[in-house]
Amino acid sequence: MRILLTGGAGYIGSHTYVALCAAGHTAVILDNFSNAAPSVPERLAQITGTVPAVETGDVRDADFVRRVLKDHEIDAVIHFAAKKAVGESTQKPLEYFDHNIGGFVTLTRAMAELGIFKLVFSSSATVYGEPDQLPITETATRGHTNPYGMTKLVCEEMIEAMSAADPRWICGVLRYFNPVGADESAMIGEDPKDIPNNLMPYIAKVAAGELPEVQVFGDDYQTEDGTGVRDYIHVSDLAQGHVLSLEALERDGTGHVVNLGTGQGVSVLEMINAYSEACGRPLPYKIAPRRAGDIAACYADPSLAKEVLGFSATKTLQDMCDSSWAWLQYSKTV
Ligand code: WQD
Repeated sequence: MRILLTGGAGYIGSHTYVALCAAGHTAVILDNFSNAAPSVPERLAQITGTVPAVETGDVRDADFVRRVLKDHEIDAVIHFAAKKAVGESTQKPLEYFDHNIGGFVTLTRAMAELGIFKLVFSSSATVYGEPDQLPITETATRGHTNPYGMTKLVCEEMIEAMSAADPRWICGVLRYFNPVGADESAMIGEDPKDIPNNLMPYIAKVAAGELPEVQVFGDDYQTEDGTGVRDYIHVSDLAQGHVLSLEALERDGTGHVVNLGTGQGVSVLEMINAYSEACGRPLPYKIAPRRAGDIAACYADPSLAKEVLGFSATKTLQDMCDSSWAWLQYSKTV
């Protein structure tokens, strides 16, 4: 299949490019490079041996999107392009609505005009808000606790309405838990511009000596060691989930909504210990106050993805930390 990856130069998009190439698909990258280094495509060429076709522009530009879909004879789209910082979304909600919802509408209208109705949508476990039971199944109540989560929920509901109105829409909705780690080549990985909000890239900067110590946001949660528990999934496993989702749409002719997680909860302290193992030295940390909006624990019931897509995460917590550390070493050279 000929696949368009919107936001394809980003963290998850670039790893999905690698997985699609390995599965024999042709992938085209559409990206405005607002949150991706210009060198990503050439590194993807080195990893896959396939020079990616890259279209630089914004998914909110309808004429641009239509031209790209037509010129590259696209069969299906995986839509990553969106802003994704929870904290930033509370300060700039309109920017998030414009990019994440406006971009989604522009993209899907252009797709429909050109008769392209296969879509894989990058959603998030954040649509579950504060889970009322664990592990979280796809039938759990949805809600949102911030504008970023609201945009993901709205796009999911738009997909439901589009599919009900026009059965030609065949959509895969993938609810990511916590993506971490890097490709085995160590040549692509999470590359945050400023001080990272998320745990693993923050720990990585401490391991690299770029930040003094890890701030553990609270150790008084109702969890085994009192620190926050999340379902971390290796980004390469996540990328493979996208390939399987796409192939299921093609094969089954029906859509799906699935969690992409490991089903295992890992605490902040467990993550720090595993990263210490990866970088070969104990990492300094300090117990800090809880972060506003954080929940104690969140991890997936991954069984539906297994049943519908044949997806299971394969990589361990140590694989996640080892690959992140290897990427961090490489990233200093690019
Ligand atoms: C993980 C745990 C923190 C940083 C967010 C978004 C979610 C998704 C993934 C997009 C929590 C603790 C963190 C730090 C810490 N993004 N922590 N010190 O909040 O689960 O999810 O990223 O889809 O939408 O909400 O991930 O990595 O920020 O936090 O103690 O410096 O680590 O309290 O328990 P989170 P996170």
